[in-house]
Amino acid sequence: MTKKPINILIDTDIGGDVDDALALALALNSPELNIVGITTVYLANEWRANVTRNMLKVFGREDIPVSTGAEKPLIGWWDESRIPNSSKDFGILDGKPLPCACDYIIQTVEKYETLTIAAIGPLTNLALAIAKAPYIVPKIKIIMMGGQITKAHPEWNIVCDPEAARIVFESGAEIVMTGLDVTNRCTFTRDDIEYVKNIGNERTNLLGEMLDTFCEKFGFLPVLHDPLALSYLLWDDIMTFADKKILVETAGDYSRGLTIDCDWGDGYPVKAAIDVKPEEFKKRLLDRIIQ
Ligand code: RIB
Ligand code: CA
Repeated sequence: MTKKPINILIDTDIGGDVDDALALALALNSPELNIVGITTVYLANEWRANVTRNMLKVFGREDIPVSTGAEKPLIGWWDESRIPNSSKDFGILDGKPLPCACDYIIQTVEKYETLTIAAIGPLTNLALAIAKAPYIVPKIKIIMMGGQITKAHPEWNIVCDPEAARIVFESGAEIVMTGLDVTNRCTFTRDDIEYVKNIGNERTNLLGEMLDTFCEKFGFLPVLHDPLALSYLLWDDIMTFADKKILVETAGDYSRGLTIDCDWGDGYPVKAAIDVKPEEFKKRLLDRIIQ
């Protein structure tokens, strides 16, 4: 019997690091997933939304609703220099304001029995939705790219809004956490990028352009953080997980934004990635995104 596709909402900071676009391409090309909506987060949301809508147009999926989310973290620091730039500017596609991500998340969860949320950017939208409507928590499963547990080095999605991350971790929601511990082991080479570009369809041409722009602007090859996190929904033999208890540090001169593995204490239970098969993952990712 064929399995029913998993309903997912993708919450993304697409347009900065190119891995969000790769995750979206992976999701769009995976019949195992039914994308019910995409929400953008963290600075330049309209810009990110239009990058998303352009991608949806190229992939023939303009039916997927897009919402714009929180511009700034709940409190504290943000980095204006990280305004996204790994994509062309697609402007305002039709000039109409898009729905607010926080409300869109709540309304979408209400529609489904359960909803998987692929959280591949800072967690502000999700924290706002949980704060506004805590009753959604038992119905959501969060597949998160965020944090790391083997090094005292904060990860971007958490450090951009540690208070939001804390709200999400402490909410009691079911969380599958894929952190830098494993994502940093998965990268594209220059040859992988050329391989995508040489396929020559409209979708791979767009991805190739985004990959090139990213390499040029950031000065390094893409790390496959977000598609790896999302791949948990597709393949159960790529990553190995362990039950962990996590605390999010919101204070400290050097430790703000750390996700601390607190097996000994009051940490919040998550399933955390501890190992990965990088080459097999990359092979399967490439097979899907060249479709
Ligand atoms: O630390 C990696 C995360 O930060 C990824 O989600 C990447 O897209 C960037 O947002
Ligand atoms: Ca991201």
